[in-house]
Amino acid sequence: MNNTVTVRPATEADTGPLIAVLAEAFHEGPLADWLIPDSDDRRTVYYRYFRDALQHGLEHGQVHTTGDQSAVAIWYPRLEPTPTNTREHLEALERIAGAYAPKFVLLEEMFDVLHPEEPHHYLAYLAVDPQRQNRGIGAALLTDHHRRLDQLGLPAYLEASNMRNRRLYLRHGYTAGRTIVLPTEGPIIWRMWRGAPDANGRTPFPPTRPRRRSV
Ligand SMILES: CC(C)(COP(=O)(O)OP(=O)(O)OC[C@H]1O[C@@H](n2cnc3c(N)ncnc32)[C@H](O)[C@@H]1OP(=O)(O)O)[C@@H](O)C(=O)NCCC(=O)NCCS
Repeated sequence: MNNTVTVRPATEADTGPLIAVLAEAFHEGPLADWLIPDSDDRRTVYYRYFRDALQHGLEHGQVHTTGDQSAVAIWYPRLEPTPTNTREHLEALERIAGAYAPKFVLLEEMFDVLHPEEPHHYLAYLAVDPQRQNRGIGAALLTDHHRRLDQLGLPAYLEASNMRNRRLYLRHGYTAGRTIVLPTEGPIIWRMWRGAPDANGRTPFPPTRPRRRSV
């Protein structure tokens, strides 16, 4: 772990730099290619999308950044099943993504139906400025929140969008569960769970009961 990284709660004052960190960090990769194949459109939509995601996180979740604003983690306590695809949210996606909205809606629906119901914290987004990746900053943000979760005795859940970040999460105590394969030649998404170890030192994935949609 990188001990020189300072982690602190993010505030409204961090919004500008952190939207850029999210939009640029998520710009590359199989999920981004699937969501918005055109790179220019992707950049435009991603800045709008992550402005909304960050604002939502600041209002309803727990958002952490580093002293130099080079990274951001957006966590949501999910202590009971929470409706996410509300009509208001779907309308916002239409406004933000325009012609690309159906894929965002499909992605969120597929994530939502397989979301565990056990109380946990959900890591919706973790992003490090592309110029600062591979220096232990992402690991420092994860470790910081895991420490809090361990004190509370709470598990963590996330969806990993490629093999490389899947490896990062495995190293941080997550177990990979049933995958999600996005249609029309979309990428594989790995559902990851970090629970309390059982008697054999394993952290089994919670049983999945597909959830009913909320809209
Ligand atoms: C994934 C990410 C948050 C990790 O933060 P980081 O500070 O670069 O990572 P650390 O230095 O703490 O740890 C290095 C590990 O992170 C992962 N990683 C690093 N860069 C990555 C990238 N561009 N894409 C995916 N994973 C990456 C790898 O597992 C790497 O270990 P490896 O070199 O053995 O493969 C960061 O790279 C990032 O923002 N990537 C793009 C957005 C993303 O994929 N976010 C996670 C969504 S689930």
